[in-house]
Amino acid sequence: MRQARDVIREECEVLKMTDKQIKEIMCRLHNDLKKGLSRADHDKATVKCWITYIQDLPNGKERGKFLALDLGGTNFRVLIINLGENHFDMQSKIYAIPKHIMTGTGIALFDHIAECLANFMKEHGVYEERLALGFTFSFPLKQLGLTKGVLQRWTKGFSCSGVVGEDVVQGLKDAIARRGDVQIDICAILNDTTGTLMSCAWKNHNCKIGLIVGTGSNACYVEKTANCELFDGEPDKEELLINTEWGAFGDDGSLDFVRTEFDREVDVTSINPGKQIQEKMISGMYLGELVRLALVKFTRMGLLFGGQGSDLLFEGGSFYTKYVSEIESDKPGDFTSCMEVLEELGLSHASDADMAAVRYVCECVSRRAAHLVSAGIATLLNKMNEPRVTVGIDGSVYRFHPHFHTLMCEKIAQLVRPGLQFDLMLSEDGSGRGAALVAAVACREAEQGS
Ligand code: BGC
Repeated sequence: MRQARDVIREECEVLKMTDKQIKEIMCRLHNDLKKGLSRADHDKATVKCWITYIQDLPNGKERGKFLALDLGGTNFRVLIINLGENHFDMQSKIYAIPKHIMTGTGIALFDHIAECLANFMKEHGVYEERLALGFTFSFPLKQLGLTKGVLQRWTKGFSCSGVVGEDVVQGLKDAIARRGDVQIDICAILNDTTGTLMSCAWKNHNCKIGLIVGTGSNACYVEKTANCELFDGEPDKEELLINTEWGAFGDDGSLDFVRTEFDREVDVTSINPGKQIQEKMISGMYLGELVRLALVKFTRMGLLFGGQGSDLLFEGGSFYTKYVSEIESDKPGDFTSCMEVLEELGLSHASDADMAAVRYVCECVSRRAAHLVSAGIATLLNKMNEPRVTVGIDGSVYRFHPHFHTLMCEKIAQLVRPGLQFDLMLSEDGSGRGAALVAAVACREAEQGS
C-alpha cells in the first residue's frame, strides 16, 4: 500500500509549476503589460499599467514636517516625518480598521481616517499646524494627477460603498472638512509600490522596480515614455513610473492552466470572485487559506491527522499566512513552531508524519507564490532591458517568510535574459516614508513654481 506521505506529495504536484509553464506565464504577462500601456487595448486590458504622476525623485534638499497616511494592508498608519539636513526622524502609529468599516460606506471610512489623523496630530503636538500630507492608498487607482485618483475597484477585503469611480483625494478632503478642526494640504496620492520604489530610490539610484508581496501583491516600474501611449503630459520626460496592478493578471482566464481546485475555492469564497486572480495565488491575504484547503482535503481523504480534523481547521480563514512563515522557519526535522500552530488549531493529536506533511504543503504553496512573483519580476526586467536594476520590496510575506527572498533570487536568475543583473532590496518602511517624500517633493516643486 502506498504511504500517506507519497499520496500527499502526489496530490501537491498541482501546486508545482514547470519551467515551461512559467515561461508561458511570462509570455502572457508581457502581452498583458503591452495591452495595458496601449491606447487601443487599454480599456479591455486586465493588467492596467496605470501611469502614476510621480516623476521626480527626492534630491535630499527637501526640508520640513510632513504627514503621511498609509491605507491598504492589514493596518492603517499615520506618520509624521521631519526632514532635516542629512537626517530625518519619523513617528508613526497604527490604527485598526474594523471589519464593519472595511465593508461599510466610503463616508464612514474617510471619517474614520480623518478622526485617526486628528487624534494623531493632537498626540504629536501639531494639531494647530497646517501640514502637507502624502497619502499612500494601495488599491487600483486611475490617476488623473498627483492629487487626483479615481478608484477602479476595491481589493484585499475592502468593499466600502460609494467610492469606486470616485476621486479618493476628494473623499478624504471632504471628511477633513466635515470635521473642520485640522488644516491639511493633501499634496500627493500614491500606490504602496511607488512609495516603496521612492524610498529605495532615495538611497539606491538603480532602483527602478517597486514590489509588494504583502496582504496584496503588485509591482510598479520605470517605463520609457515612448511606450506609454496613454501619457499626455509633458513630453520632455523620457521615463515614467507605471503602476502595473498585476494582481489582476489572470482575471481573463490566462492563469487557469496553472490554477488548482484550491485557487478556485479561495476565489469563489472571496468578496471579489473572478477578480485579482494572480494576487490570490501570491499574497498574504490568501496563502494561509490555500494551505488550509489542501489540509482539509487531505484530512477528509484520511491522509492527515488520522482522518480527524478540528472545528477550527474546517473554518475558513483560520490558517493565517503568518503560520506558513512560522512553520517553514523550523529547522529541517524540527517541528516546534509547527506543533504550536497545530495546537492552536485544535490538532494536538498530529503525529510527526502529519507535521512533516503540513510543512510540505506550506512549502509548495509559498514556493509557487515566490515563483509567480519571480516570473513577474523577470518579465519586467527583460522588458526594461537595463544592465542592472534594483527591485525595492516590501510586504509581510517577503519580509517574514524565511525563504521567499532566496527562492526569488534563484528563480529570477534563471528567468532573466543573460547579462541582465538585478538586486532585491528590502525597503525600510517603504510606503509610509515614500508618501512623505513624495509630498515633500511636491511641496518643493510647488514652492519653486510659485
Ligand atoms: C492593490 C494594489 C496594491 C497591492 C499591494 C493590491 O490589492 O490592488 O494597488 O499595490 O494590493 O498592497
